[in-house]
Amino acid sequence: MKVKRTEIDRVSISLPKTLLEKFDQLIEKKGYENRSEALRDLIRDLFVEEEWNEDVEVAATVTLVYEHNTTGILDKLTNIEHENLNNIVSTMHIHIDKENCLEVIALRGKASVVKSIGEKIISIKGVKYGKIVKATTGKNVD
Ligand code: NI
Repeated sequence: MKVKRTEIDRVSISLPKTLLEKFDQLIEKKGYENRSEALRDLIRDLFVEEEWNEDVEVAATVTLVYEHNTTGILDKLTNIEHENLNNIVSTMHIHIDKENCLEVIALRGKASVVKSIGEKIISIKGVKYGKIVKATTGKNVD
């Protein structure tokens, strides 16, 4: 197996004392082992946000909660999935209880296209909860 090694540079940054104290408390609460790992994640997040702004190839998930008995909801969802089969790559369906379903839909493609499909899915009548998680293909995030 080929192991990818990333060259590391060290930087020092200046921060207001109180901001650094709050940052340390927050990252400890979140479980980070050190400041570097927390900062790397924040920086990567900025790059992912920029990928979406630049409308390049991205990945995303749409999480939905709905009642499967709601009239027409399954047909509408299936229609959207078939209309966008090049962008919708996978769907996971979990039956939460007798009425409620949890669905996670994975998408990839141009950011604007993925966003528009996600919004179309979330706005289907009867969706109780819907959220798009803007992710990345990972190519430009080391
Ligand atoms: Ni179900």
